[in-house]
Amino acid sequence: MKERFYVTTPIYYVNDSPHIGHAYTTIAADILARYNRLKGRQVFFLTGTDEHGQKIQKAAQEKGHTPQQHADIYVENFRSLWKTLNISYDAFIRTTDEGHKNIVREILQRLKDKGEIEKRTYKGMYCTPCERFWTPKDLIDGKCPDCGRPVEDIQEDNYFFLMSKYQDQLITYIEQNEGFILPETRRNEVLGFLKSNTLGDLCISRPKNRLSWGIPLPFDEEYVTYVWFDALLNYLSATLYLCPVWARIEGKDDADPIFSSCWWPANHHIIGKDILTTHSVYWSTMLMAVGLPLPKNIFAHGWWTIEGKKMSKSLGNVVNPQDIAERFGVDAFRFFLFREVPFGLDGDFSEAAIVKRINVDLANDLGNLTSRVLMMINKYTSGKIPETSTYNNEIKDIALNLAETIEKHLKVLSFHKALDEIWTLISALNKYIDTNQPWTLAKDKDKHDQLKEVLYTSAEGLRIVALYLLPFMPDSAQKILYQLGLNVELDNLDLGQEGKWGRLTPQTVIKRGEGIFPRIEIKPKEENKEIPQTTSDNLISIEDFAKVELKTGLVLHAERVKKSDKLIRLEVDTGEKRQIVAGIGKAYSPDDLIGKKIVVVTNLKPVKLMGVESRGMLLAATDSEGRLSVLTLDRDVSQGARVK
Ligand code: MSP
Repeated sequence: MKERFYVTTPIYYVNDSPHIGHAYTTIAADILARYNRLKGRQVFFLTGTDEHGQKIQKAAQEKGHTPQQHADIYVENFRSLWKTLNISYDAFIRTTDEGHKNIVREILQRLKDKGEIEKRTYKGMYCTPCERFWTPKDLIDGKCPDCGRPVEDIQEDNYFFLMSKYQDQLITYIEQNEGFILPETRRNEVLGFLKSNTLGDLCISRPKNRLSWGIPLPFDEEYVTYVWFDALLNYLSATLYLCPVWARIEGKDDADPIFSSCWWPANHHIIGKDILTTHSVYWSTMLMAVGLPLPKNIFAHGWWTIEGKKMSKSLGNVVNPQDIAERFGVDAFRFFLFREVPFGLDGDFSEAAIVKRINVDLANDLGNLTSRVLMMINKYTSGKIPETSTYNNEIKDIALNLAETIEKHLKVLSFHKALDEIWTLISALNKYIDTNQPWTLAKDKDKHDQLKEVLYTSAEGLRIVALYLLPFMPDSAQKILYQLGLNVELDNLDLGQEGKWGRLTPQTVIKRGEGIFPRIEIKPKEENKEIPQTTSDNLISIEDFAKVELKTGLVLHAERVKKSDKLIRLEVDTGEKRQIVAGIGKAYSPDDLIGKKIVVVTNLKPVKLMGVESRGMLLAATDSEGRLSVLTLDRDVSQGARVK
């Protein structure tokens, strides 16, 4: 029977469009899934969306949708991004799936029956945006310690999961299982927290009159389940209802369904560092209470900042992976994320950094190696892999060593070390070619055996490079293999077999094609336009200002103008419906705009932008660093109101 490998990403909230942080975790899981498939393991790679709770209810309300309609729209942003980024997930879970909801209710009922859940009166401080209760000592300046917003003093009856009684068991578990929480620094943090604090019980219900968008408790329909209790269970529920029947443990057809999944426990839950407590403490104790084993590993990765700043909507610096993939290529983006920063540490994203990686590692090292090898085989051995009985042993050893080192690094999600190993082979090959100078050997008939040895060794080395790059850069690696004359069927490819030396058959006809990674010339950033200063010469009168008709408008619809990454076409209700075209597409996605109340100049002469008529202009501010923010209203007034 094949070894099984189960990897998950967090399930993402559908209150917003996906960004670089979501892409990061999902690509990490994809690399592991692809690698383990190539190793002949049976893989279950799960991702999905977290669709209940206050955040979603609020986001839907703001857009004038029901929460379900909202989720149905936003889930597509994730699905389409995963398609663009070549994410090979096996199942996509939505917490609004009936199958998931049934399992959550089943688990809640079991825990209630076992006495693991109790109803209590709760008095405390509640942060609505974070959906969390706090004790007064948790607060910072009387505000939520997580988001800094005001908290409400609430007293209400709620259901509690008796988490506190598992504190000692959890400490022991973490101490005895070194790889359970990684990286080690995070493991120490969790242990430190558990040893120096008294764990409380976890409030797992919300009264329906405060939050209706959730899974009703099976034993009290006046309440819905706390969104994290619902969300964490996705890792288990998906293995039960999103898997084919054969995925149940053999011979246990009549077993308790909750305990019958052959995929549980997961090998890796990959998450960001901000959600480590919910996973390592809430989820682990929930599993202990149900009586199921804990996941083998929870890996908390670091966060990306953008050009040294925290990524945030208000700064307008949210990195949209769809744009990056379009501009730099999917594989270059995938590679950059894992070569630039050790998984587990924080990283900084900038265009200059990705361009540097592309030019140095991809164009110079890998791209150059590929084009040299193919060019030389084309020129010196008529486009066919030469026959030889001797190889360069140093190259061969480095190549053969990869099987072991890559397995070792990927077991602990050390992606950058795995890439380092592959790059050691690439550099060795480039150096080997430089030293042996096939172009000189070709000139001397007596040295043609040596020439064949060099060409075969280089081509075979390149084949092994491409093989190990398949999980990281699937399209480019396949292209290299194809150009070496190989037909790759990923489904049947066995890394154990293919990783052996000498699999490249002499006389195979290579297929030279376009270069794999061309160099990128970065355009200098547009000079920041000076923000004009007011002087006595450029003052205007109130009459001048009154000539400009400004009105409030509600954005009814927004979509990108075809073939433009800058322009967005909006339908706005300014008392009458009008179409405007705005150059804000780099700072906003259309979904961000729908439902916003904005300010529009309504008496501008119509113009056509890329063939689309614009009747008016929205107001937006741009600072000297190019950050853009659309003006919105901070109170509700009806659309069409005059702005003065
Ligand atoms: N829905 C919860 C997870 C439930 S899992 C049972 C959630 N969703 S989220 O959409 O807000 O965030 C998902 C992930 O994005 C988290 O792992 C978080 O760490 C990650 N990131 C958000 N911003 C990030 C960066 N700037 N950089 C890297 N990852 C970041 O939390």
